[in-house]
Amino acid sequence: MKLFDVYPLFDINIVKGKGCHVWDDKGQEYLDLYGGHAVISIGHAHPHYVEAISKQVAALGFYSNSVINKLQQEVADRLGAMCGYDDYQLFLINSGAEANENALKLASFHNGRTRVISFAKAFHGRTSLAVEVTNNPKIIAPINNNGHVTYLPLNDTEAMKAELAKGDVCAVIIEGIQGVGGIQVPTPAFMQALRQACDETGTVLILDEIQSGYGRSGKFFAHQHCGIRPDLITVAKGIGNGFPMAGVLISPKFAPVYGQLGTTFGGNHLACAAAIAVLDVMKEEHLVENAARVGSFLLNELKGFKGIKEVRGEGLMIGLEFEEPIKELRSKLLFEQKVFTGVSGTNVIRLLPPLCLSMDEASDFLERLHRLV
Ligand SMILES: Cc1ncc(COP(=O)(O)O)c(C=O)c1O
Repeated sequence: MKLFDVYPLFDINIVKGKGCHVWDDKGQEYLDLYGGHAVISIGHAHPHYVEAISKQVAALGFYSNSVINKLQQEVADRLGAMCGYDDYQLFLINSGAEANENALKLASFHNGRTRVISFAKAFHGRTSLAVEVTNNPKIIAPINNNGHVTYLPLNDTEAMKAELAKGDVCAVIIEGIQGVGGIQVPTPAFMQALRQACDETGTVLILDEIQSGYGRSGKFFAHQHCGIRPDLITVAKGIGNGFPMAGVLISPKFAPVYGQLGTTFGGNHLACAAAIAVLDVMKEEHLVENAARVGSFLLNELKGFKGIKEVRGEGLMIGLEFEEPIKELRSKLLFEQKVFTGVSGTNVIRLLPPLCLSMDEASDFLERLHRLV
């Protein structure tokens, strides 16, 4: 059987990782400024994480959500305390798209409405509702195109207020910082006005922190730079450091109903062991603070580079918009300088390294980039 060929692949077979480095099957080492697409939070093969997962799988990898799983409550307790939402409720699933799917369903169950506001360049995943609120017609199949969504320009307060004033909007879904859209940062003034407009119109505010959350922005959640509290927050990627897992953080104003949401694999024992180990390491090694410190060093240094039109982002979620298309530069970074980076559109390089990136590794990256620009 052939693989369904939907990914344009680099001809590299990564077989090993440690911290912020990965190795291919020929023994070549690479600096990882991509984190497997913002997934690696605490670093590759962290010993505490390896031990926690290994012990758990030897004891019990999976049992169903029809019995008590105390590890789920432990994830909820630790996460609530670390992110400042210990009064919220947690629903666990397996992927980012699934988290947004469930958040949108919860919003609609809550206020009975069906219209959603999303933003230009938004990316929220590829399942039916998640893809419908994603601003990319190429990946919205006719069966997903159900007319629920109005896209507005990001940071346009007047347009947002006018749309919400109609009183029929179920939810607004917005990324803490847009990732796929090229690291576009919502302004605090916009986010505060959005919070207020949602309150005034009974609209549910959903913060998609799947890429920007879990410490990446230098705060636990990117929206915490804006001083607001959403009704629903979705998380995935960094939560399991590569173990597939996701969650919806749910405000106390939502009452759970038996059977309304559910999943076979969500919150399984092995995933919870991974998530607990991630939170242990994030706390022990002060990774949120590290992301803020190393991120601000990189953001400052990169501003002086030739050919870079704009440097955007917070913490270790950084977009470098070049004057010229970056395809060749990114390829040279990978094949000549041995650095993995991400991309967005034609002109933006995205940096999404593990949150444990050291100052030395950041300087090493700058040096390697400097050889090319
Ligand atoms: C902001 C955001 N939301 C949702 C998703 C979808 O997550 P997943 O691929 O785990 O379904 C992504 C993935 O890149 C994302 O960046």
